Amino acid sequence: MASIDFVLSLETSCDDTSVAVVDAKGAVLGLASANQDLVHEPFGGIVPELASRNHTLTILPLIDAALAKAEISWNEIQGIAVTSRPGLIGSLLVGVVTAKTFALMRNLPFIGINHLEGHIHAPFLRDSEYQPPANFDYPFVALTVSGGHTALYQIESFGRYKLLGQTVDDAAGEAFDKFAKMLGLPYPGGVHVDKAASLGRIDAHSFARPMINENNLDFSFSGLKSSGQRMLAQMSAGDIERSRNDLAASYQEAIVDVLIEKLEQACRKTKMSRAVITGGVSANSRLRARAVAWAQTQGVQLVIPPLRYCTDNAAMIGFAGIQRLRRGERSDLDLAPQARSMPTDFLETRPKLNRHHTGNKKS
Ligand code: KG4
Ligand code: ZN
Repeated sequence: MASIDFVLSLETSCDDTSVAVVDAKGAVLGLASANQDLVHEPFGGIVPELASRNHTLTILPLIDAALAKAEISWNEIQGIAVTSRPGLIGSLLVGVVTAKTFALMRNLPFIGINHLEGHIHAPFLRDSEYQPPANFDYPFVALTVSGGHTALYQIESFGRYKLLGQTVDDAAGEAFDKFAKMLGLPYPGGVHVDKAASLGRIDAHSFARPMINENNLDFSFSGLKSSGQRMLAQMSAGDIERSRNDLAASYQEAIVDVLIEKLEQACRKTKMSRAVITGGVSANSRLRARAVAWAQTQGVQLVIPPLRYCTDNAAMIGFAGIQRLRRGERSDLDLAPQARSMPTDFLETRPKLNRHHTGNKKS
């Protein structure tokens, strides 16, 4: 079998369309992405139908752009990787159909990848401006935290991932975005809460920190959201306006407290001294500062990849995909997108909780 040195990868699981060319060491030769924030902004959240329509408009130009950036022609591409789960079905379908079409046309092997396996591997990516620390390797604890997921994994080696815990309701990014909306900040709100919080006091208001003291690695953010709602309901519009920075800082601190506490518990329980934070919420300046300080005091090697690899991107999918293709794994042309992960994707170690699970709106 010919060796596979370069793959083209596609990511369309939610509202970002992204195409990359990567090699087996994680070098990102070309990455071209388009976000749809302006499309969904008027609705204050992602509209699945609009997300998939926009993927169809941008995916082919982005393939051309990624190949051009990589200065590679289709003839040099030896495989295709595509996110096939979990995510919005209509969005996933665009990437999966595009991958299958090119695989058939160009007679290339292709593979469907779990989006979260991609996020977990973001720290291995490299380019002219970023490379992971020289001694970074498996095993590590990964905290993936974005608008669609909040979970902790024990990453033992490539392909061996234990799910240690995850949110039982909302994702942390959703908690940021919903509170931002209540504060009258633009969508997506996480970054605006972050900015407002930098001017506010973390102890001005008291918010719930659900599950922080429970002896497990699960998260819950819907109670925090409700406590935010209740607090704002008792304030006048003028009071909210005047206290916006303090509200943002105090609310953000509650989320960050929970994330850091659970990350620490995960490292303690797994006896790991290496940790990774990925996902869009890893852009949060308070989370970064608190995590770096925590890692220093604990002697933990902490890697937070640059934002372009933390948010949804095809390079992380290409990295996971090329490892699998090089091991001889292949998807068939009847591969179908799946809204959820497959039971075999992760070894689940946490006990099943008897709680209502709303499922993730995005991944
Ligand atoms: O990974 P991502 O781009 O998309 C997925 O959800 O998969 O993450 C987007 C999420 C949104 O909820 C956004 O508000 C949040 O990440 N986010 C932030 C910040 N920047 C992005 N949350 C808090 N602080 C930030 N600076
Ligand atoms: Zn994601």
